Amino acid sequence: MSKIGIIGAGEVGSHIAQAALLTGHRVVLANSRGPETLKDLIDELGPNASAATAVEAAQAGDFVIIAVPMKRENDMPTESLADKVVIDTNNYMAWRDGPWPIIQSFEKTEHEIRQEQLPKSKVVKAFTHIQAPRILTWGKPAGAPDRLALAASSDFPEAIAVVRALYDQFGFDTLALRPLSESWRITPGQPAWKQERHSAAALRENLAKARPVPRP
Ligand SMILES: NC(=O)c1ccc[n+]([C@@H]2O[C@H](COP(=O)([O-])OP(=O)(O)OC[C@H]3O[C@@H](n4cnc5c(N)ncnc54)[C@H](OP(=O)(O)O)[C@@H]3O)[C@@H](O)[C@H]2O)c1
Repeated sequence: MSKIGIIGAGEVGSHIAQAALLTGHRVVLANSRGPETLKDLIDELGPNASAATAVEAAQAGDFVIIAVPMKRENDMPTESLADKVVIDTNNYMAWRDGPWPIIQSFEKTEHEIRQEQLPKSKVVKAFTHIQAPRILTWGKPAGAPDRLALAASSDFPEAIAVVRALYDQFGFDTLALRPLSESWRITPGQPAWKQERHSAAALRENLAKARPVPRP
């Protein structure tokens, strides 16, 4: 079982933390306001959870999850994330994040930009197309006929392997989407993003239907 650094303790970070604790991992959580502001959440999560700064969470994690909307100025602890697998859950949303022509024109995805921001890390896009609370309720045992599949996109097979293991423990199959430039197929507005409940076959079909439509 792993120690997982989680940067971002909002909707996604706190639900992934719960799922990780339920499957035997330890988590170290960080937000932007400082560890003291996470006391209530840590009390709720229990003894295998702790609060830290983002640098400390990055250093502590065998791998690290970033559950933070992406900023134009890189606000992640780049050096502390070097050489680590970094699972990034962010979805660029024009209504929230403002105009970002390079993403809106499909020249690059938000995760290719994150990979550029973290050049020494192995970035993998995951958990971006499931509403966070469903991570806890939609999982099924391996082999169940109605088990759902989630995508993982990266240039690094070892980063996809980390996500595959985590998805499996949380009750989901994995569909690998390589290279990372293919991750546009599961960005907001695409069929594979809009329809959340997918078998692996249905997810594959919807990924093939992706078209460069305007990003929401
Ligand atoms: N909500 C969902 O169901 C869902 C599903 C899939 C993907 N996503 C995507 O995942 C990302 C996170 O979404 P969310 O709903 O979890 O957002 P959220 O509830 O607003 O939480 C964001 C978290 O990021 C922290 N944060 C912001 N800047 C930070 C920094 N520089 N260092 C450390 N922590 C920082 C915030 O800390 P403070 O509160 O202290 O500022 C907060 O804990 C977004 O891009 C979203 O589109 C969301």
